[in-house]
Amino acid sequence: MQGEKGVIFSGMRPTGRLHIGNLLGALENWVRLQDEYHCFYCIVDWHAMTTDYENPGHINENVREMVMDWLSCGMDPEKSVVFRQSDVKEHAELHLLLSMVTPLSWLERCPTYKDQLQQIEGRNLATYGFIGYPVLQAADILLYKANAVPVGEDQAAHLELTREIVRRFNYIYGKKVFPEPETLHNEYRVVLGLDRRKMSKSYDNTIDIAAGPDEISQKVRMMITDPARIRKNDPGNPTICSVFAFHRIFNTEGLEEVELSCSRGEMGCVECKDNLSQILLQYLEPIHKRRRELENNPRRVTEILEEGRKKAQQVARVTMEEVRSIMGLQ
Ligand code: TRP
Ligand code: SF4
Repeated sequence: MQGEKGVIFSGMRPTGRLHIGNLLGALENWVRLQDEYHCFYCIVDWHAMTTDYENPGHINENVREMVMDWLSCGMDPEKSVVFRQSDVKEHAELHLLLSMVTPLSWLERCPTYKDQLQQIEGRNLATYGFIGYPVLQAADILLYKANAVPVGEDQAAHLELTREIVRRFNYIYGKKVFPEPETLHNEYRVVLGLDRRKMSKSYDNTIDIAAGPDEISQKVRMMITDPARIRKNDPGNPTICSVFAFHRIFNTEGLEEVELSCSRGEMGCVECKDNLSQILLQYLEPIHKRRRELENNPRRVTEILEEGRKKAQQVARVTMEEVRSIMGLQ
């Protein structure tokens, strides 16, 4: 049904504005895949509910922000199906039916489950919904019979669980209903945050894709430099400096010069940071331009989600008919 091209599925939880770690670590890769595959990109708001069920206040707004971030970074709703998980109720039905065949022990031993239970404080996550998180993720992927899923390393365990569910389902019902999806690891580009830890919303060390000039320079000024450099003319060591880590990614042409003038003590950190802010702004400028167009046209965002829902549902319905029938429900 999808023609010759393989099917890709991936999802992100709508947790707020995306940052340049998301852009380089995932989004740019997703955009590249659009020409080679039939892509489904889903804003997984039900997954967000598994942890934020007490405070879902911003979820609608966050979904729309995510559409704007995705599109401004080059995702094309003509090429890819861009949609919201809760708009396609078939995800819930398949989640329910897959939960019938998924042994509880598989979920209990899932490493992300154990980690998150420990890490996330102040919320009761000993819930039925939360332990079922990977089953919902499997339903997302299998509803579109995806062949491959581009995700980071942190999702490897969930993908393995999806494949186990596929094997068990196909075995029980005696037919190859679902393909085993392979993991397409995002090209390895971990972006460090302002403090040299991995850039992540939970560390509060990000630069957002939508950040304007003032926010960018303010964030860049906060970056940690070589602490041994006290005076402007002290020779610096760029390899331990956050600013240099960013130059390395974004300043391909001037990199050698930054390295030399830092280590010879010829350039001060303030100047070096100002240069970086300019370079980042230039990199983000075309993205910001597209974003402004969408911000000024909220109806377009609604339309995109509606078109995405229709396209996704067409495929989801066919899969569900097959699933119901093979499980003896129709
Ligand atoms: N669990 C994923 C994450 O936290 C999000 C997700 C939900 C997903 N469903 C998916 C990713 C299906 C890939 C495929 O990043
Ligand atoms: Fe870092 Fe640049 Fe300062 Fe060198 S000059 S320590 S690279 S900010």
